[in-house]
Amino acid sequence: MAGKDFLNTQDFTQEEIKAILDAAADLKQRFRKREPTTYLSGRTLFMIFYNRSLRTRNSFEAGIYQLGGHGHFLSPNDLYTPTLPEDMVPYATEAISDVARVLSRYGDAIAIRIYGDPAKWVIGRGHRIIEEFARWADIPVLNMEDDLYHPFQALADIMAAREAEPNLQGKKFVVSYAYSGGLKPLAVPQSEVLITTQFGMDVVLAHPKGFELEDSVIQAARENADRYGGSFEIVNDMKEAFEGADFVYPKAWSPKSFFPPHNSQVDKEGAKRYQEQFKDWICTRELLDVTNRAYYMHCGPADRGQEVTDEVLDSYERSLYFEEAENRLHVQKAVMAMVMR
Ligand code: CP
Repeated sequence: MAGKDFLNTQDFTQEEIKAILDAAADLKQRFRKREPTTYLSGRTLFMIFYNRSLRTRNSFEAGIYQLGGHGHFLSPNDLYTPTLPEDMVPYATEAISDVARVLSRYGDAIAIRIYGDPAKWVIGRGHRIIEEFARWADIPVLNMEDDLYHPFQALADIMAAREAEPNLQGKKFVVSYAYSGGLKPLAVPQSEVLITTQFGMDVVLAHPKGFELEDSVIQAARENADRYGGSFEIVNDMKEAFEGADFVYPKAWSPKSFFPPHNSQVDKEGAKRYQEQFKDWICTRELLDVTNRAYYMHCGPADRGQEVTDEVLDSYERSLYFEEAENRLHVQKAVMAMVMR
């Protein structure tokens, strides 16, 4: 995998993903024993954040340091102005082709987060910007979440699921819409249905009408299910989806039909108004009681009182919320150590 970009888990075979998870498990053990893992001594990771972050920024920055390298944070204020023209130039003064080639002369990988406002809420634009960086960079480009995919979150989550249940084949995994008043990208649910079908799970996607994922992702999830021996089903009822589930992943995303290219203009207020109808899509203790003692999962930050109750987040005995957050560190170190060679 030396030199490869990491933009979407679908770009990697199941064998490659399992190799990453094995490396992550080894790094996790060694981190806990405080053993040195300085595979990337003297290497530099550039981190371009057009959006804020707690987990992603701190796990990448800590991770590259623990591997013996340096994480260089590029502030969104230095990079992005909201008055930019409609072309693909997110840097305030320079073209992506120039930024990518300049950074390639200084370091060993470029990691980028871009979705929502910095991507002008044109669904897919953030992903295309990261692809444009990858086209011009001579060093690996890592997707720290765009408007279509959050591949490192998917890796961390499948690692946490495998730690809880070593054989995931045939286990029921529910990716469900959950209410939030905020606007959220499609990245997490899309990456979750892709990685879980890639591991042969029986995946159920639950959402109210209007919250459909991108057609290309649904098709890829169906193909994964056929190829890896699982199943993929879509329902419009949260409780029906939760029945008998082994894992539940209730998470907000926003209805795509209010945003280009599915709408002629960006209609944030319309999307928020539409979402307000679905406040009853919340993960409660009572809802978890219809599952097969399911593990609760969420990428974080979970919106308390909207996506999930405090009771579930703070005291549900089968929550993987903090394991998922922790595993971000280990899977990212694994990928960095494999591609930044
Ligand atoms: N899950 C996730 O990416 O968290 P942050 O937004 O805190 O980075």
